[in-house]
Amino acid sequence: MGSIPFYAKRFVAGTTFHEALPIVKKLNQKNICVTLDVLGENVKKKSQCEVFTNEYLELISKISEEKLNAYVSIKLTMLGLDIDEDFCTLNLKKILGKADALSCRVAFDMEGSNYTEKTLAYYEKMSSIFRSAEIVLQAYLFRTEKDIERVLNSNGRLRLCKGAYKEPETLAFQKMSEIRENYKKLVSRLLLNGKRVCIASHDDEIINFCKDFINKNHISKDRYEFQMLYGMREKTWLAISGSGYNMTVYVPYGIDWKAYFSRRIVERKENLFFVLKNFFKS
Ligand code: FDA
Repeated sequence: MGSIPFYAKRFVAGTTFHEALPIVKKLNQKNICVTLDVLGENVKKKSQCEVFTNEYLELISKISEEKLNAYVSIKLTMLGLDIDEDFCTLNLKKILGKADALSCRVAFDMEGSNYTEKTLAYYEKMSSIFRSAEIVLQAYLFRTEKDIERVLNSNGRLRLCKGAYKEPETLAFQKMSEIRENYKKLVSRLLLNGKRVCIASHDDEIINFCKDFINKNHISKDRYEFQMLYGMREKTWLAISGSGYNMTVYVPYGIDWKAYFSRRIVERKENLFFVLKNFFKS
């Protein structure tokens, strides 16, 4: 099956659930929730999509059996979105059905802008049937402000992140200052309008803005959680959770780690330095 190379281990928990499990348990002991992501995207073969679907079904069972404080994140292109939409729907429904039965959450990760409309449409449809469905939106896209209005009254939480894919300037803000301002505007709208929000960012400016906003507007704890990625800002996870906020860490595992890993390297030069430092140490 192969293993995760030493330089990627900081960001990827392992190749199997078995390898990720001790990490999940450790985080849960520290009162931190986990969202587990089986790595894989843009799958081109139906048989492989079926393998991933079964892996998620098993994962949801294991979360329940092990009584973990955890839920799952999925990418629709691993379930067949690029191949056949009916087939993708079938796979997704199996996962959501099981998740509903076992009270697990299923967040639809948001991929590049070619998939935004489709992912949103799937969410709109599925969240009216399954209470486990959750959506991710990206603050760098111009369209997100309108997309939020579409999902404001749906069931399920909404994760707001900045966005991790290279998008053209016709579709997305390019400057960090503009992305941050848009993030603040969108998260304020979400928090004030009753949507349960997952604040997914490692950025202190965003985190501090949200904490102030939450305090000033007396927003109750069950309406939001902070989220960060495995391998990034561990001390801050502990500080956030230690101050009484809900904290979730996104823990990815699986053999298809390369696309996820390269997004982490591209978005932050310190991640690249970390990898290079360890490369030369070895
Ligand atoms: P960003 O990289 O913009 O950095 C801004 C500042 O934050 C830095 O200058 C630094 O001050 C601080 N900072 C950042 N990382 C730090 C670190 N490791 N240590 C110390 N300081 C740090 N994307 C997507 O397109 N679709 C998705 O579905 C998801 N899902 C998702 C889930 C979760 C839980 C998270 C946290 C993120 C995602 N993302 C995502 C990724 C997201 O869109 C984005 O690419 C990254 O979170 C990077 O943006 P940040 O706001 O975290 O910091």
